[in-house]
Amino acid sequence: MSIMKPTRNLLLVLCPMLVLGFLYYSSGKLHLRVWGQKSQSDVDSSLSVGHQRASVYDKQGFLLKLDGKLPLDLSYKYGNLSEGTCKPGYAAAKMTAIYPKFIKPAPMFLDRNFKRLGKVSNYLPPFGFKTQEKIISDILSLTKNYGLGPELDSMNCKRCIIVGNGGILANKSLGSRIDEYDVVVRLNEAPVTGYVKDVGSKTTIRITYPEGAIQKPERYEKDSLFVFSAFKPLDFKWLRQMVHKEKLRGTEGFWKSVAQHVPKEPSEMRILNPYFIQEAAFQFIGLPLNNGLMGKGNIPTLGTVAITMALHNCDEVAVAGFGYDMNAPHAPLHYYETVKMSAIKESWTHNISKEKEFLRKLVKSRVIADLTNGI
Ligand SMILES: *[C@@H]1O[C@H](CO)[C@@H](O)[C@H](O)[C@H]1NC(C)=O
Ligand SMILES: *[C@@H]1O[C@H](CO)[C@@H](O)[C@H](O)[C@H]1NC(C)=O
Ligand SMILES: *[C@@H]1O[C@H](CO)[C@@H](O)[C@H](O)[C@H]1NC(C)=O
Repeated sequence: MSIMKPTRNLLLVLCPMLVLGFLYYSSGKLHLRVWGQKSQSDVDSSLSVGHQRASVYDKQGFLLKLDGKLPLDLSYKYGNLSEGTCKPGYAAAKMTAIYPKFIKPAPMFLDRNFKRLGKVSNYLPPFGFKTQEKIISDILSLTKNYGLGPELDSMNCKRCIIVGNGGILANKSLGSRIDEYDVVVRLNEAPVTGYVKDVGSKTTIRITYPEGAIQKPERYEKDSLFVFSAFKPLDFKWLRQMVHKEKLRGTEGFWKSVAQHVPKEPSEMRILNPYFIQEAAFQFIGLPLNNGLMGKGNIPTLGTVAITMALHNCDEVAVAGFGYDMNAPHAPLHYYETVKMSAIKESWTHNISKEKEFLRKLVKSRVIADLTNGI
């Protein structure tokens, strides 16, 4: 026992030392190996770090690897909801997952506090309202309503669909599916009467600029909001005259004839927040900034502006009637007229191909659902 004790003590001391020594040795080896690897390919690895950063997000800030899968936190949040249940916050959450810069709050329409909207107060139309403050105040003092209405505003989960005007909507009998959405958004003069089977009968809001507005008063549907989207300063002048029910004076400056009269009460009129034009153009699509002024190919189409609006204000977002099938030159351009696809011209203001790249990202990652698969 008396001999064993020192041996045991020695072992007790030696063992931890061996362990520590081994750990030290192996960590040193590991360390060396790591550094060795690094020093062997210093240039390579710094490149690959830079490459890695660049390869996660694209120039616009969207994830490069897009798929329809739900991130883990979202599948926990939404995975249990049964099919067909509206998922609160879903579109914004999915958008943020592929585009971390996304900040959800952005009111749909301008209200009496519009001057406090920092992001748009310093831009001229169409990207903001600078120089138009007085005329907007005047319009808003008449409309006196700034939301979708009490019923929709109080819903805790809203599903929206943006119905584009594309010929791709024709003969697909999607009307009843479109009508199931809480908010049905239509654009410009796209008709409903005569096309109900394919495009539905419900219109919650119709977003319009002067040249796109329905010209025949009898063609305006009841119960829809007339939502005005301005692309140039002159457009606000037109809206003021429409809200005041004044006879339209001076139509020079419009690129097409405009409606003389909008048969809607001021309380049914809204001004779309111009932030959606700005954000779609410069942030989402990446069109040229051009010092914040309208320039060649830097105006998003109204359809993409409407989708941008919905990402901020709807819990789920779907689209139908978007995109053109370039392989079908004889297909109609619009669902409501016979102008053929082949008539489409390169537009001075829009950049359709860049815009489509953006919309594809939304569809691929299932931020939005595309009922007609045209995007
Ligand atoms: C979803 O269901 C699982 C298993 O039933 C449960 O553990 C989890 O808490 C549920 N998640 C939510 C958000 O309700
Ligand atoms: C849709 O169907 C109608 C009637 O059958 C037909 O005249 C029209 O050409 C079709 N349109 C398209 C785009 O297929
Ligand atoms: C659209 O964008 C692409 C890529 O930035 C550019 O090459 C092209 O000229 C643009 N088209 C128009 C009409 O501005």
